[in-house]
Amino acid sequence: MELGDRHGRVATDLRVSLTDRCNLRCQYCMPAEGLDWMPAEETLTDDELNRLIAIAVTRLGVTDVRFTGGEPLLRRGLPAIVAATKALPGSPRTAITTNALGLKHTAAALAAAGLDRVNVSLDTTDPETFERITRRPRLHDVLDGLAAAQAAGMRPVKVNAVLLRGINDHEAPDLLRWCMKHEYELRFIEQMPLDAQHGWDRASMVTADETLALLGESFRLTPLDGRGSAPAEKFLVDDGPHTVGIIGSVTRPFCGDCNRVRLTADGQVRNCLFAREESDLRAALRSGASDDELAQRWVAAMATKRPGHGIDDPAFLQPTRPMSAIGG
Ligand code: 5AD
Ligand code: SF4
Repeated sequence: MELGDRHGRVATDLRVSLTDRCNLRCQYCMPAEGLDWMPAEETLTDDELNRLIAIAVTRLGVTDVRFTGGEPLLRRGLPAIVAATKALPGSPRTAITTNALGLKHTAAALAAAGLDRVNVSLDTTDPETFERITRRPRLHDVLDGLAAAQAAGMRPVKVNAVLLRGINDHEAPDLLRWCMKHEYELRFIEQMPLDAQHGWDRASMVTADETLALLGESFRLTPLDGRGSAPAEKFLVDDGPHTVGIIGSVTRPFCGDCNRVRLTADGQVRNCLFAREESDLRAALRSGASDDELAQRWVAAMATKRPGHGIDDPAFLQPTRPMSAIGG
């Protein structure tokens, strides 16, 4: 079986949200006071998660597993979950998307467990701007976490940045310079309508075109081919060897090549970040469904995947769950 849809796409890249909790409060994600976190009993246990990941890898053709959140490092069982995933037949590629708080202490254990790569969210290298965006004075922890991931041998270490108009957009060239100096691969992501406060609006989003123009004032950017199903368009910076990625989720959507499927921390399959429906694997799992039945439900959940996110459609409705509950 495979996770195909009616538009010819097949999902091989599984994103697993391990918790909806986070120790930062990024403006574009959460309100200052945080959210009502998922109750513990609704969250999948490590064993339940491992079982679903095993079904995805051994029966449904998943080759890549990325752990997200909220903040995946807040899940104590993470190294063991990574190790269990790597031990599956075919040894899937594993990665985490993290804010890197505490990564300094866990990077070596995660690498030993078989974690292949990390994507660290970092929008600025200025401590004041960092605190303004994340509402926490923790820039130094992120920088330590990044260095630890690199020291643990994870390559490439990628950095994800969201530009916010009037807050950190003017710092884009500095951030790129800093990432090149440290050998981190930087990608700018357009802000998407996924914040819990529903504060997103198109006019304040810094577009891919604008980001390219901002960077173009300091660097010569040459487009590289071969985006494939990767969302980032890559550009060579000056004469190389460094590159920068631009992820135009809104203005340059890559839905037609999407190979992703998501599992939330409470065991719901989402066939798209912007899906309006979920499929409840937890209920099935807890009422005694076999691996076969769970796999069939998962396949059925993919069939209805829509061709695109439709953010540009006037009828677009933001998903009811925020990014932190869905997984990035
Ligand atoms: N738009 C774009 N990116 C976002 N992220 C979180 N919320 C948003 C949003 N509304 C980013 C984080 C992280 C990744 C999971 O997605 O910064 O890098
Ligand atoms: Fe936490 Fe990531 Fe949301 Fe920031 S964007 S509050 S780091 S989950």
